[in-house]
Amino acid sequence: MGEILRRALERLEYRGYDSAGVAVVDRGLVVRKDAGKVAEVATRYGFDSLQGVAGLAHTRWATHGKPDQTNAHPHTDCRGVIAVVHNGIIENYAELREELAGRGHVFRSETDTEVVAHLVEEYKRQGLDTFSAFKKALSRIRGAYAIALIDAENPQVMYFARNLSPLIIGVGDGFNIVASDIPTVLDYTRRVIAVRDGEYGYITPTEVYIEADGVPHDVASRIEEIPWSAEMATKGGYPHFMLKEIYEQPESLATTVAGLEWRTLETVANALLSARNVYIVAAGSSYHAGLVFAHLLPRLKITPIPIIASEYTTYENLFDKDDVAIAISQSGETIDTIKALRSMRERGVKITAVTNVVGSTLSRESDVVIYTRAGPEIGVAATKTFTTQVATLAALFVAALKALGYDTAQYEHELKSLPDLARKTVENTAGTAKDLAKRLKTRQSAYYLGRGSAVPVAMEGALKLKEVAYIHAEAYPAGESKHGPIALVEEGFPTIFVFSDPATREKTLSNVAEMKARGAYTIGTVSAKSDIAKKLDLPIEVPEAGEITAPILHVIPLQLLAYFAAVERGYDPDKPRNLAKTVTVE
Ligand code: AGP
Repeated sequence: MGEILRRALERLEYRGYDSAGVAVVDRGLVVRKDAGKVAEVATRYGFDSLQGVAGLAHTRWATHGKPDQTNAHPHTDCRGVIAVVHNGIIENYAELREELAGRGHVFRSETDTEVVAHLVEEYKRQGLDTFSAFKKALSRIRGAYAIALIDAENPQVMYFARNLSPLIIGVGDGFNIVASDIPTVLDYTRRVIAVRDGEYGYITPTEVYIEADGVPHDVASRIEEIPWSAEMATKGGYPHFMLKEIYEQPESLATTVAGLEWRTLETVANALLSARNVYIVAAGSSYHAGLVFAHLLPRLKITPIPIIASEYTTYENLFDKDDVAIAISQSGETIDTIKALRSMRERGVKITAVTNVVGSTLSRESDVVIYTRAGPEIGVAATKTFTTQVATLAALFVAALKALGYDTAQYEHELKSLPDLARKTVENTAGTAKDLAKRLKTRQSAYYLGRGSAVPVAMEGALKLKEVAYIHAEAYPAGESKHGPIALVEEGFPTIFVFSDPATREKTLSNVAEMKARGAYTIGTVSAKSDIAKKLDLPIEVPEAGEITAPILHVIPLQLLAYFAAVERGYDPDKPRNLAKTVTVE
């Protein structure tokens, strides 16, 4: 049991990595936990040797209480019989804690999670069986949660519940697993049930029971076969997931392009063309992918309204039944995006989801789903999911052109050539990116500049450098740089130009000259055939590409640069500090 839990934690570490812990039910409840990375904590506390019939494991991204041993999950009740792990935030934990303390419960941690263990204990004390006590506890808590709970007095059962935070069940032969995401269970099963908001239940080795509002749900019809293998979620010889995932892009783009469902794209394209307003809603890298798409829409005479998901309330008054939204999220679980989507749906907006995860909340709550086929992405920094999003949205643009009667053969050819060009880009730019990383490693700051559709590519490049190498990086429309940011430029200041938008190259070149005149060290992603290279201190040559695929090729060296800069500076790019792969708190 201990080894299974440790391996599951390793798979999950990308979701949070400031502390780790396990609980097993053997003859009684055994809990081992501490602050630190999974490997350290697992070795220190001998996770592998733990025996039991049921077990819980958790890796934490702190919300309430600092990362230390006491605050690490699992949390237990007063008697040390019940253990609970939880993702999300229990909003009313303070009042519950006060109430329970008043009834004599002793709290050990500062977390919101611990109230769940004591609530269940309290209701058991009042005479309820564990499941009834669990349900009553759920009725008392407010907020976002994915919860798993075991009770040493009922050792063959694990209880679970979900509201807003992702939770799945891996269905096996003679075993079942509750987990917060799919890669965790792939070593054991590909048969998965996505637990929905408001659902709770329990698993035993041979049974999965789910109910919502007291009504049992049919479980068998909800089992989905996941098209990912366990191998896809391992490093496969690469030192880091991030590097592996950058190198996987030719393949993930090939799978995504081959898997495009043109009928669905046509339906969505027609909806876009006849909509009153078109919203593009997403967070982080997914938002940048949305911005690349937003730059194409005026060509269809569509005025896009891009919305950073956490800012959706500003736009709520606009949302209307004649509107269409494209919601983009690799995980399909980002709470900001889900909240924005729900607000739109309530007001009648038709939603198309672009996501990488089958059965995710986003996919279930949207009217139409377009899947990217990047495979599991474990590195916290989005790489292959970003490029497959851009490719998918480029295909949606092509479908809209087609619907308008344009000849799209050239664009379709562009999409087909993309995997091969991506392969050449990774191979040809890795060396330069590595050399540049050595030069950048001591710098405090860098600019990423571009014009037109190169701006979101620059934004994505800057985000990558910040996320994994912890170098301050700012992206600007190149023309805007002289309205302020240029004041920071002095001798040697690294300025990275993105030349992925051919329509804006001349003007961008003027900005290169302005930066050079002030001593900047000018770097640029340039097409191999252009003569721009001569005008830069360090050109990074990418293969010549058409306009809808150039953003994809030009971002690849920027991903590589961020990766190598992180490694040069001695950081683990897979686990950047303070970040979690899927952000399920607002
Ligand atoms: C990307 O490198 C980041 N880790 C982050 O910005 C991410 O893109 C964002 O949290 C959105 O995630 P999603 O695509 O799963 O919704």
